[in-house]
Amino acid sequence: MRSFRTPALSAVAAAALIASLSGATLAGTSSPAVAAASPDLSLTNVTAHLQQMQSIATANGGNRATGRPGYKASLDWVKAKLDAVGYTTTVQQFSTSSGTSYNLIADWPGGDPEHVVMTGAHLDSVAAGPGINDNGTGSAAVLEAALAWAGSGNSARNHLRFAWWGAEEQGLLGSNKYMSLLPTADKDRIDLYMNYDMVGSPNPGYFVYDDNAVGNFARDAMTSYYTSKGLPWEYIDVQGRSDHASFRSYGIATTGMYSGGETTKTSAQAQKWGGTAGQAFDPCYHRSCDTISNINSTALDRNIDMIGHMVWLYADQDFGTTGAPPTGANLLANPGFESGATSWTGTTGAITSNTGRPARTGSWKAWLGGNGSTSSENISQQVTIPSTATTASLSYWIRTDTAETGSTAYDTLKVQVVSGTTTTTLKTYSNVGTSATYAQFSHSLLAYKGKTVTVKFLMAEDSSLQTSFVLDDTAVSTG
Ligand code: PHE
Ligand code: ZN
Ligand code: ZN
Ligand code: CA
Repeated sequence: MRSFRTPALSAVAAAALIASLSGATLAGTSSPAVAAASPDLSLTNVTAHLQQMQSIATANGGNRATGRPGYKASLDWVKAKLDAVGYTTTVQQFSTSSGTSYNLIADWPGGDPEHVVMTGAHLDSVAAGPGINDNGTGSAAVLEAALAWAGSGNSARNHLRFAWWGAEEQGLLGSNKYMSLLPTADKDRIDLYMNYDMVGSPNPGYFVYDDNAVGNFARDAMTSYYTSKGLPWEYIDVQGRSDHASFRSYGIATTGMYSGGETTKTSAQAQKWGGTAGQAFDPCYHRSCDTISNINSTALDRNIDMIGHMVWLYADQDFGTTGAPPTGANLLANPGFESGATSWTGTTGAITSNTGRPARTGSWKAWLGGNGSTSSENISQQVTIPSTATTASLSYWIRTDTAETGSTAYDTLKVQVVSGTTTTTLKTYSNVGTSATYAQFSHSLLAYKGKTVTVKFLMAEDSSLQTSFVLDDTAVSTG
C-alpha cells in the first residue's frame, strides 16, 4: 500500500513545478505531435447544419431514416454543399429490407493516392426521431471539417476522403457495403479511418475508441489532443457498434469518438465531466426527442475542434511506403497512464493520480517507491516489435527525489526487457544523482525485432529514507 509517502516538495513548490512543467509539455517529444495549424471549426456553422437536418426531418415525417424521404433529402443537401466547394462526390445506392439507402463519398482532389485518410459518420437516423445527436452531430462535424479543409487553401500530403454512411442503424449496412465493393487494392490504400457517431450528447462523456486492429497511433493522437486541452477522457471498447468496424476487421487502422448514449453517467464521471450522475449520457438516444434541443454545445464545440485537428494532422502524416502505422507510432497502450492501471500489470496502486508528485502530462503517472521502508514494486507491459522494424526504442520520462544522501545506491529502479526467460537491464536509476525535473531517456529495442517482450520498471527500496521514481509518457516506437 502507498500510505507511507514522505512528501519531498511543499505544496507551493509542487505547484510551481507543475506550472513550469506545463510550459515544457508543449515542447515535449514523446507524445504524438499536436499540429500547430489545427483549425478552429465553427460551432455556428455546425449548429446551422444541425438546424438544417432538423428542418429536413420536420418536413419529412419527423425522421431521416433509411427508406424514408428524410434520408435522401439529408444526403442531397450534404452532397450539394460538398459539390459547391470542389469535392468529387459519389453516391453509392444499395437496398436494404427497410428500403433503398445511399452512401455519400467525397474525395478532395490531390494528395498521394497511395495513402488515403478517411473520415466518416453515419447520416441516417432511426425512424423514431430526427436523429440530431445520433448522428446529425457526427455528420455535421465531418461536413464542416471537409468544408473548412476546402476553404483552408492547404494541400494535403495524403489523399483525403470523407464518407456519410447510410443504414448504420440497420446494422452498419452502408459502410459494410462500401468496403465489400471496394477493390482490394483500394482497401489497401486506406491508411486510416476515423469515425464520429454521437459527438454532442446532452450529458456528455468523452470516450475514445480503444478497439483497434492495428496500431494505436490515431487513438493516441486523439487522447493527446484532449489531454493538451485539459479535458479528461476515457477509452471505450465499441467493438461492432459503429461504422469503423468493417475497416477495422479488414485490418485498417481506425479511431473514433463517442460522447455517450443510453448508458448512465457515474458520479465519478459527473465529477470529472460535469453533467448529471445517474442519468444517461443521451436520455433521448433513439427517441423522438433527439431534436435540435438534444445537444450540449460545449461538448460539440470541443469535439468538432478535435475532429478538425485529426483531419489536419493526418492530412500531412507520413505513412511511409508500407502503409503501416507511421514511424513513431506508440506501440504501448495507455502510455501516459491517464486510464489508470489499464493495460499495465504489476504493483497495485503504483499507477496513481495522487498529487504528492506531479504527472508530467495529465494527472496520472507511475510512482514507484517513496515508501521509506523495505519494498519492491514494479509495472510492466507486453509489446511486440514488428519483424520489419528498422528502428525500435523504448522511451519514458522520469523524475526522482530522495531523502537519502551520499553516493551509495540504496534504492534503485531498473528498466528491463524480459524476453522469454532472459531479463536484460537497460538502465538502473538510484537515490544517487536524483533530479526532480522530468527528463526523457530512451533505449534501443531493435535487438528484439520480431519478438514479443515485456517492458518492465522494477523498484527496490531499502529499510529507511524514501526514494521516489516517477515515470510518465512512456513509448515504444518503431520505424
Ligand atoms: N452506433 C450507435 C448508434 O448509432 C451508437 C454508438 C456509437 C454506440 C459508438 C457505441 C459506440 O446507435
Ligand atoms: Zn443510433
Ligand atoms: Zn449512431
Ligand atoms: Ca500522465
